[in-house]
Amino acid sequence: MTNLDLYAKAEHLLGIEEATEALYDLYRSELDDYKVKTLLDVGCGRGGFMRRMESDGVKCKGVDLSSLMVQECRDQGLDAECIDVKDVAGTYDAVVSIFDVLNFMNTQELEVFLDAIADKMDENSIFIADINTLYGFQDVAEGTMSNDADDEFLSVDAVFEDNELHTKFTLFEKNDDGCYTKYQDTIVQYFHKIEFFKKHKKLKLIDKQTFSLYDVEDKTLLIFKKR
Ligand SMILES: C[S@@+](CC[C@H](N)C(=O)[O-])C[C@H]1O[C@@H](n2cnc3c(N)ncnc32)[C@H](O)[C@@H]1O
Repeated sequence: MTNLDLYAKAEHLLGIEEATEALYDLYRSELDDYKVKTLLDVGCGRGGFMRRMESDGVKCKGVDLSSLMVQECRDQGLDAECIDVKDVAGTYDAVVSIFDVLNFMNTQELEVFLDAIADKMDENSIFIADINTLYGFQDVAEGTMSNDADDEFLSVDAVFEDNELHTKFTLFEKNDDGCYTKYQDTIVQYFHKIEFFKKHKKLKLIDKQTFSLYDVEDKTLLIFKKR
């Protein structure tokens, strides 16, 4: 199992449903300013945002590098694939990467990723993504939590150092025979400065808004057009 698949298994125990819905509201209101008929959700997770947009008549495609996430999307009848964004065909009116997706990549990976996003856009398309602020990493994300559910136990231990957040996930899942299976892996998230995005060759940062998802000014929403 990959570390992204372990995240997929553990996500429902993190208590982020309310924050996720609040983030979707923000994306939805930003997209209202544009005529969006087609949407590509990169890092679509279990497809919550695509479900919302589809119900508003927008044709959605989702990609995610976790096959477990993609399977959950497909089980709900959504069009999702476990492929790299560079392998997606065509262009879209809007592309989104919601809830930390850009932070999952280091600078080199992010450069390649943003190039691929630009290739899925035409001159009128919009790309919206969010990133964690330094404050969001240092004061909100760092720390430990645990969740003891009936048949599952999750512990999360996150340390922020040298602009990287290392989050160790330990999940115990109860089997039919009453024994538990233990899964453990680490996800690294990278802090990125706004200057990095301003300098991108193919994408032009047209707007940014720092806002509070959990705490004071922990996230920044970035809105891009193609250069
Ligand atoms: C915090 S989750 C957010 C999921 C979803 N956007 C949501 O709002 O519920 C981040 C997602 O990004 C995916 N991911 C990380 N790096 C990715 C990449 N390079 N390309 C596509 N998906 C990626 C992970 O598998 C995970 O599903």
